[in-house]
This record gives sequence, structure tokens and C-alpha cells, in this order.
Amino acid sequence: MARKFFVGGNFKMNGSLESQKKIIEALNAAKLNTEKVEVVVAPQALYLLNTRAELRKDIGVAAQNVFSKAHGAYTGENSAQSLADAGITYTLTGHSERRTIFKESDEFVADKTQYAIEQGLIVIACIGETLAEREADKTIEVCVRQLNALAAKVKDWSKVVIAYEPVWAIGTGKTATPEQAQEVHVEIRKWANEKLGAQIADALRIIYGGSVNGGNCKDFLKFEDIDGFLVGGASLKPEFHNIINVHN
Ligand code: G3P
Repeated sequence: MARKFFVGGNFKMNGSLESQKKIIEALNAAKLNTEKVEVVVAPQALYLLNTRAELRKDIGVAAQNVFSKAHGAYTGENSAQSLADAGITYTLTGHSERRTIFKESDEFVADKTQYAIEQGLIVIACIGETLAEREADKTIEVCVRQLNALAAKVKDWSKVVIAYEPVWAIGTGKTATPEQAQEVHVEIRKWANEKLGAQIADALRIIYGGSVNGGNCKDFLKFEDIDGFLVGGASLKPEFHNIINVHN
């Protein structure tokens, strides 16, 4: 099955009203092959509403995080229901910065992933190993543990994109080689086949994140299990357009 290529831009906790305005204007003016590529940008929560209102409608808008309950006494959290109500149709969950800095457990990530799906959101669920785990040859073990936690809760995998983001490649300029990424992506696809069945596995987008930029993105295209990118730093720059148009 042909999976639609997926490119996400995770702006993280960056930006100002002026810089966001410039990014939106540049994206609105750009010639982007959004028929062939599913494009989503994730500004920090403060800018979600304005981004959705001003950005071209063939680009999705994602929250960077969401909580696993509807509404209530959860100060500082983003409600999936409120996001859906505001036309924010995607969210990230389980980004390594949420797992390492904010101590989000595999189960907590899985709970919020399923809850977001129940509210109608499409979830970019992030997994990946730390440098210490890779050096201990535990990469696949860690990713499978994170995936199994998701599988225990997620009921509709058509609403999930898996983002494999080796923590040691995030924001470091040290990209995993395409071969290293493919090695893990093929194991994720194998896990999905065994755990979820061939149909879901074949349709599941598995995207790579970790120092992707306009200069290296083409190198990943030769591997069939790499279905796109989750881009951090480079998504704030004009080269993000080149990454979206990587097939051109
Ligand atoms: O979510 C994407 C992000 O973690 C990757 O960051 O700056 O290495 O592209 P970066």
C-alpha cells in the first residue's frame, strides 16, 4: 500500500508573534506538494489558535502535547477536547523532551494518545532511545517497550503516526544515518505486523526525527520504511519548504 508521506514541523518552545507571522506568511506563499505530502506544524500552545486561523488549510496544525482527561483541575495542560473544538486536529505525544524532562511514563503517554484519538485528533506518537540505551545495544528493546505500552491502549491505529526520534540525534546536529534509521524503522514495521496485523502495519506511517535538514533529507528517501520526518530546528527555517518538497 502506498503510504502518504508525512512531514511534521515541531517548533518546540520557540517563536514570537513576529517570527510566527513570518513563518506562516512564507508557508502560505510557498509552492508545496501537499497533495503528495501530509504537512503539519506544531507551534507552542500560545500560538495554536492564530496559526490555525492564518495558515493555509492544506497544512495541519498540531499541539505539542495534550492531557489524558477531558477538562478540569489540570493546571497548565492542553485539553484534547478544547483542541478539537478549536480546529487543532493533530497532537504530538511522548516527545523525548516530555519523557526525559517532564518524566512522562510509557503508560502516561499511551493514555493520552488513546484519549486524544477518542477526541478525534490524529496523534504523532514519539518513541526513541537515549545514547546510553543505544550504546548498551538496547535500541529495539526500548522502542518495542514504548510501542507495547501504546498497543495496550490505542484502539484505532489509523489515527496514529509513529515518530522514531533517537534522543541522541535531537537538536545535536548528529543525525542518525539513513541506514541506522531504516534499521529501527524496519523493526517497528515488524513489531506492528506481529502485534497489530499486516493491514495496520502496512498502512502505518513511521517517520524519522533527529537533526533532519534540507541538506540530508533526500538521503532517507531510498528506504521504504521511512515515511517522512518530524523536524525540529529546521522547521523554523526556509529549508523546511525543501524538506516538504523532498520528492521534487
Ligand atoms: O520533534 C522533532 C525534534 O525532536 C527533532 O529536533 O532539531 O533535531 O530536528 P531537531
